Amino acid sequence: MSDEKGSLGLGGKTIELPVMQGSMGPEVLDIRSLYGETGMFTFDPGFTSTASCESKITFIDGDAGVLLYRGYPIEQLAEHGDFLETCYLLLYGELPTPAQKADFDYRITRHTMVHEQMARFFQGFRRDAHPMAVMVASVGALSAFYHDSTNIADPTQRMIASTRMIAKIPTLAAMAYKYSIGHPFVYPKNDLDYASNFLRMTFAVPCEDYKVNQIVSRALDRIFILHADHEQNASTSTVRLAGSSGANPFACIAAGIASLWGPAHGGANEAVLKMLEEIGTVDRIPHFIARAKDKNDPFRLMGFGHRVYKNYDPRAKLMQQTTREVLRELGLKDPLLEVALELERIALHDDYFIEKKLYPNIDFYSGITLKAMGFPTTTFTVLFAIARTVGWIAQWKEMIEDPGSKIGRPRQLYTGATRRDYTPINKRS
Ligand code: CMC
Repeated sequence: MSDEKGSLGLGGKTIELPVMQGSMGPEVLDIRSLYGETGMFTFDPGFTSTASCESKITFIDGDAGVLLYRGYPIEQLAEHGDFLETCYLLLYGELPTPAQKADFDYRITRHTMVHEQMARFFQGFRRDAHPMAVMVASVGALSAFYHDSTNIADPTQRMIASTRMIAKIPTLAAMAYKYSIGHPFVYPKNDLDYASNFLRMTFAVPCEDYKVNQIVSRALDRIFILHADHEQNASTSTVRLAGSSGANPFACIAAGIASLWGPAHGGANEAVLKMLEEIGTVDRIPHFIARAKDKNDPFRLMGFGHRVYKNYDPRAKLMQQTTREVLRELGLKDPLLEVALELERIALHDDYFIEKKLYPNIDFYSGITLKAMGFPTTTFTVLFAIARTVGWIAQWKEMIEDPGSKIGRPRQLYTGATRRDYTPINKRS
């Protein structure tokens, strides 16, 4: 809290509101006393000017294109670290020592199997179900299998639930994919690193040896790092809101997965690829740019724009580099990359996109990379969910461990009918 106060003149009365100062980022006006003092609410649908909580986990400077996890720039973590190190950092607040890292890796890898009965649970789904539908259901169902880690008041149980989710969500994701193509499930192999294990569970078949491509595995690990957390986005806010009522962590993460699925959020990576395929060739780009700019056309350039970034998304830069590395390693030449690069070039020079500060976001290049790795389009958002699980959990834990946290309960501006008397049905025309 700073000594500064903001004052607000309302109906001839001036009230003083405290100004809060974070370690970085804009100052925040504390309006908690506003309703009590004035009987007025604030109105901010979409939370464009509202800090919904205090957090020490992730910082974004959208104008400068900066993303920090616990103070560390995303570029440094992506270049030098691995995903489980990032998980440790997000959960515990500090980078691990070698002993802490070895212990954490061990704990995660010892929780990768899921209850065998979960396999039967899968049989109830249609084979053509969207894998995100399967993820929402199966992650929610974890709370029916792991009762010994649903007491949120117990710090040990909280940590076990967190470990279980980071470890098991890739297993469930791979099972969702295997089920969709009618292949047998592949059990986790705990001497592999996190990304390699996931690649093997997804692509190996029992009748053949599977050799993990280390370049691809490293690229996937980096993709996980880039997606691990992003402060109070829609799915994270969903997890916090669900958790604020005291709901168990598995149910909260299932709620986060549901929110992530939407095309304005995590579902954008799938939508980008569909859009690039629809565009098809470079000569058709101007037509789609014109559609994106047309107010009467609902079409938007998917993978462009961001609520917070009004500059190049730093994750998109790293993702573009990863795309090139993967295509080079696999000897692929994807014509969609050419379309994406040209689309980006044209949009970045177009007044509409310049004025509105619309830059490529992380989803713009991730789809091409994941496609090159062999993942079908419908699994892209699932991969995002695997990576974001740790962010959701870290944010959920931070909220539960904050003694001042309250149930989330926004108010509204009511514009419906005023009080009126009931008319019996035979008197209505
Ligand atoms: N293409 C064309 N116009 C756009 C786009 C776009 N992709 N994004 C925003 N605009 C325009 C929009 O029409 C509006 O114009 P006007 O002021 O004339 O009405 C202006 O830019 C501001 O847009 P907004 O919808 O008010 O901004 P927002 O902060 O509410 O939305 C967004 C942010 C990410 C939902 C939006 O930019 C969008 O729909 N992008 C495409 C979907 C996408 O790529 N989503 C992934 C986001 S990054 C990963 C993640 O968070 O999961």
